[in-house]
Amino acid sequence: MRARRAGSGALSAPGRCLWWWVVAVGLTVGSGDPWMSSEACPSSCSCTSSRISCVDPERGIGAFPVLQSEAEMENITDIYIANQSSFSSINDKDLHYYKNLRNLTVTNSRLTYVSKLAFQNNLKLQYLNLKDNNLSSLSWRIFKHLNISYLILSGNPLHCSCENMWIKLLLGEEADTQELRCIEDGGARKLMSKLKLPNCEVPMATLSPSKMPVKEWENVELFCTTSGMPRPELIWNMALISNYEIETSGQISMMRLSNLSSLDHNSKITCIAENIVGGRESSLLLDILFPPKITKLSDAISDHHWCIPFSVAANPQPHFRWYHGDKEVQEGEYIMTMIHDVTEREYHGCLQLDNPTHVLNGMYTLEVRNEYGVDRKQIEAHFMQQPWGEGPYSSEPYYYGK
Ligand SMILES: *[C@@H]1O[C@H](CO)[C@@H](O)[C@H](O)[C@H]1NC(C)=O
Ligand SMILES: *[C@@H]1O[C@H](CO)[C@@H](O)[C@H](O)[C@H]1NC(C)=O
Ligand SMILES: *[C@@H]1O[C@H](CO)[C@@H](O)[C@H](O)[C@H]1NC(C)=O
Ligand SMILES: *[C@@H]1O[C@H](CO)[C@@H](O)[C@H](O)[C@H]1NC(C)=O
Ligand SMILES: *[C@@H]1O[C@H](CO)[C@@H](O)[C@H](O)[C@H]1NC(C)=O
Ligand SMILES: *[C@@H]1O[C@H](CO)[C@@H](O)[C@H](O)[C@H]1NC(C)=O
Repeated sequence: MRARRAGSGALSAPGRCLWWWVVAVGLTVGSGDPWMSSEACPSSCSCTSSRISCVDPERGIGAFPVLQSEAEMENITDIYIANQSSFSSINDKDLHYYKNLRNLTVTNSRLTYVSKLAFQNNLKLQYLNLKDNNLSSLSWRIFKHLNISYLILSGNPLHCSCENMWIKLLLGEEADTQELRCIEDGGARKLMSKLKLPNCEVPMATLSPSKMPVKEWENVELFCTTSGMPRPELIWNMALISNYEIETSGQISMMRLSNLSSLDHNSKITCIAENIVGGRESSLLLDILFPPKITKLSDAISDHHWCIPFSVAANPQPHFRWYHGDKEVQEGEYIMTMIHDVTEREYHGCLQLDNPTHVLNGMYTLEVRNEYGVDRKQIEAHFMQQPWGEGPYSSEPYYYGK
């Protein structure tokens, strides 16, 4: 899941695009759709239904403008702030209502602090221009949940510190295109792309099972090993029905799952290693072996064919056998088991019958078997001749039906 992290290659996109963007923003300042009603927009800014722009250095703002209603703020996709000498922070809730914000520019102002939760509610944020401000550091965690494709940070007094290393990793060549520099302890300015620090790297996480697959009701131990400097924090992430205990000692953590429930088959378990440079994760799907259980067997229905719908939970896939009365059904061209969908734990399908006559009416038994067990269920089926086109067609696949 590296792609989700700020460390993805999204920004290694051609530098050319970035320049287009800078130019475009410059050109669109002050133009756009008809103005909104004047009382909706703070007096020192100008607003359209999708954009807020605050560039008046005389009547400055100290915080993000707040519009009259949540609905108006939800319509805003672009906020442009420039030349605001008292604008210094982006706090937890400042952008809370700007849910659809895509472009944010705060430039040539005094931005010094960006909260880790600043963009918590702005999942669509893509373009972020914080050029020419007073930022000395910025945490990658601010962007952890976002797909930022453009990040402009030049003209800030960024320190050449490990905390800012992720910026070099994220921007790649882009850092040179922006001529992004950082300030060393002595005060020297250095190209960010040349930043090298000892013991400052994205950590690693490796998750390994002691054995897999495992049988239902058994126990299993999973080990997560992390490495990297600074020493990462180790985080488990899963939603399980089975009981588990976690024991962590240094960079190794063990998860002991006991009395495994088959309901956890195919559940995802993730181990994450995070430090100030970034995060990596390692995941696995639980592979739990369990006997078949028929969770649904319903009345025959007619669509293009007749179908006796079933759902069966099992791992591995069971063998299907049908009985009509006490005679085993010989599957062939006109009558056969069809699996239409396989979900995490279940097989959904039909016993499909082509033009069955009343001879085939009667009691049907489904028997499902794998090496761990067997299950059986019965259903009475009545096939009636039905002119095609009058069957109970539905847009939902019928094997999902209740
Ligand atoms: C964001 O900026 C880019 C580049 O100028 C522009 O193409 C795009 O239309 C802007 N998006 C919004 C939602 O304003
Ligand atoms: C939001 O934008 C839509 C479409 O542009 C518009 O119809 C609606 O009136 C706007 N809502 C507000 C509160 O401005
Ligand atoms: C900000 O101020 C500078 C000079 O002080 C000016 O050149 C620039 O056009 C201003 N930016 C905006 C968006 O008004
Ligand atoms: C810039 O940020 C530093 C802290 O990092 C602060 O001490 C200083 O006052 C800020 N400068 C301005 C002009 O806001
Ligand atoms: C980010 O982008 C990836 C792939 O481009 C996509 O799968 C994911 O849904 C996006 N996430 C958000 C929050 O938009
Ligand atoms: C395992 O779980 C099942 C059902 O959740 C329970 O009936 C059984 O007693 C448990 N076995 C042990 C050894 O805890």
